[in-house]
Amino acid sequence: MVKFETQVGIIGAGPAGLMLSHLLHQHGITSIVLEAKNRAYCEERVRAGVLEHTSVEMLRNAGIAHRLDREGLRHEGIDLGLHGYLHRIPFVELTGKAVTVYGQQEVVKDLISQRLSDGGDLRFECGEISVHDFEEDRPSIHVDKEDNVDVISCDYIAGCDGFHGISRSSIPPRALTVYDRTYPFAWLGILAEAAPSREELIYMHHERGFALYSMRAPRITRLYLQCKPDVDLAEWSDDRIWNELHTRLGCSDGWRPTEGKILQKGVTGMRSFVVEPLQFGRLFLAGDAAHIVPPTGAKGMNLAFADVHYLAEALRAKYRDNDEAKLDAYSATCLSRIWKAQRFSWWMTSLLHLFYDASPFDRKRQVAELQYVMSSRAAATSLAENYVGLPLD
Ligand code: APR
Ligand code: PHB
Repeated sequence: MVKFETQVGIIGAGPAGLMLSHLLHQHGITSIVLEAKNRAYCEERVRAGVLEHTSVEMLRNAGIAHRLDREGLRHEGIDLGLHGYLHRIPFVELTGKAVTVYGQQEVVKDLISQRLSDGGDLRFECGEISVHDFEEDRPSIHVDKEDNVDVISCDYIAGCDGFHGISRSSIPPRALTVYDRTYPFAWLGILAEAAPSREELIYMHHERGFALYSMRAPRITRLYLQCKPDVDLAEWSDDRIWNELHTRLGCSDGWRPTEGKILQKGVTGMRSFVVEPLQFGRLFLAGDAAHIVPPTGAKGMNLAFADVHYLAEALRAKYRDNDEAKLDAYSATCLSRIWKAQRFSWWMTSLLHLFYDASPFDRKRQVAELQYVMSSRAAATSLAENYVGLPLD
């Protein structure tokens, strides 16, 4: 058994855990990050791609936006589509703010390289983890690998280990309330080697189902099709995917997505999930460990950053001023923002997807709502201010 000491033990090297470790370092607080997978896995997993204005500011303030500022694609609006007709929501005109398209795995690469050059303690392929004594003053994390156990003794544990991690499930279920909603559809997503032929994203409502046109880089397009959650990818040849994308995304002005080699195919489930509270004793949950949003509002990574911003500020007040008020308020502070993002993600999802069992009334109401957002400056402003990110209080 080998013993280690640190102030904050962080489980998970996703955007939440890495960003927390970086922010703590800037406040002079030590941490050890424990990650189950290897570094390449963390750096290459393709996931979210849209950074709110608020997240970009956070990354800039934290001094890790050099590559983001060079390579990120600034988007000043999105197109909403209804059966091929597009209507632009001009974020900058409506809110003064924009978003930036920059892949989650690029943020992860930047954070890992910054942590390592700052001498950070990141332990990949760490082994099996368990958390102990988090209702006492000195909790610990046990890391079991090849019959050796490392014991990390710390003041606080940050559970940043995503939806399937062990942090949330280590809290007695009676202490937690779960709010959960699954949707009767999923997204079939592809990454294609094709230069984007439009500058902005298209969120298209179509009678065959929702489709999203997005991008990652000057030569890489990201596209999604609404599908059944139990879709069999083997039934979706590249040709079938492109045909369906052309049908759903084809625009009245003749525009079609440009085809290219499909580099990756995958299915993303759609779920809204929140656990309350985000704290149990000295164990704090952040990011996907505490909440999941359907991807339609592009909020997942941004919410993870907001959580760790609040957690880092709270830990700073504790260590610098021995003030625990922000730590005590951590859960309530995060939840206020989380529920607003939940509402927005649910709303964007409900607005744009085909609900297979919707009544004729509901179909008409849904189309009317979309037409309202496309025709009302007030409604478009509401969408825009949520999409670019509500300010951090
Ligand atoms: N031990 C150590 N590490 C673990 C364990 C475990 N038992 N379980 C999970 N992990 C790691 C995962 O391998 C992953 O690298 O925790 C990390 C969690 O990272 P994410 O799932 O990316 O979660 P988070 O950092 O909260 O970021 C949220 O991810 O799913 C997207 O859309 C979501 O963009 C959002 C972001
Ligand atoms: C993406 O590019 O992966 C993406 C963009 C916008 C979304 C969801 C995903 O709402």
